[in-house]
Amino acid sequence: MKKKGLPIGIFDSGVGGLTVFKEVITLLPHEDIIYLGDTARVPYGTRSPQTIIRYSQENTRFLLHQGVKILVVACNTSSAVSLPSLKKENEIPVIGVIEPGARRASEVTQNKRIGVIGTEGTVKSRAYERAIQMIDQKIAIISRACPLFVPLAEEGWMDNEVTRLTAQSYLSPLCEEKIDTLVLGCTHYPLLETVIREVMGDEVCLVNSGKETAKEVQRVLNEQGIATPGKRDGSYKFYVTDNAKRFIKVGERFLGRRLGAVNEVT
Ligand code: DGL
Repeated sequence: MKKKGLPIGIFDSGVGGLTVFKEVITLLPHEDIIYLGDTARVPYGTRSPQTIIRYSQENTRFLLHQGVKILVVACNTSSAVSLPSLKKENEIPVIGVIEPGARRASEVTQNKRIGVIGTEGTVKSRAYERAIQMIDQKIAIISRACPLFVPLAEEGWMDNEVTRLTAQSYLSPLCEEKIDTLVLGCTHYPLLETVIREVMGDEVCLVNSGKETAKEVQRVLNEQGIATPGKRDGSYKFYVTDNAKRFIKVGERFLGRRLGAVNEVT
């Protein structure tokens, strides 16, 4: 089969990557997609780099076996630590969420002070710092792990008092640092955008790495001549490594649309 006709492969540690999936299907509605959520081993954010790399390699192998033309690592934590090895080990294009988010943040900052929020793993890896400073060494980056945002989003507490207090406590130090740009460096954080915006104020530009990643996928597909011609709607297949029921429940809330069948794989 010609590469053009093959699906895009997306993986994440679980359900959060659906925020990236959503941006990809909005921008590229004709593409078929296979999504893998590693729900049996989520969260990745608190694990060691070696473990995250091994999980990411296994996820990649699964998607390659399905026959995909491009691989999107929707998980920030996985992108932060495993992208170099995944790129080296595989022949198809591999796109992570860090570089696109970093590029956008570097473009929009005026005062060269950027905040980055993510999981412990993403923050510890300093991957966003490296990516931003590759573009402009003069940019100061202030990072902060916000681990409680993940369960809050999955609980559906997008906009309530507990979430507001949590956001205040995590984000007030970033406000004091006078950043003018904040990278939402975790799959779940765009879902909490209202509360994050409330705390940060309207002056701070929020960068959604998932949105930027979708643009990068579009660019690479076009550049390599492997985009699906725009005639029909794309079809989607979802796989998880555990508890398809919960993935459907939380995922449909994240996406605001029905997911259809979700298959469990080991
Ligand atoms: N998907 C992860 C990320 O974007 C968040 C959830 C996890 O810790 O696995 O970093």
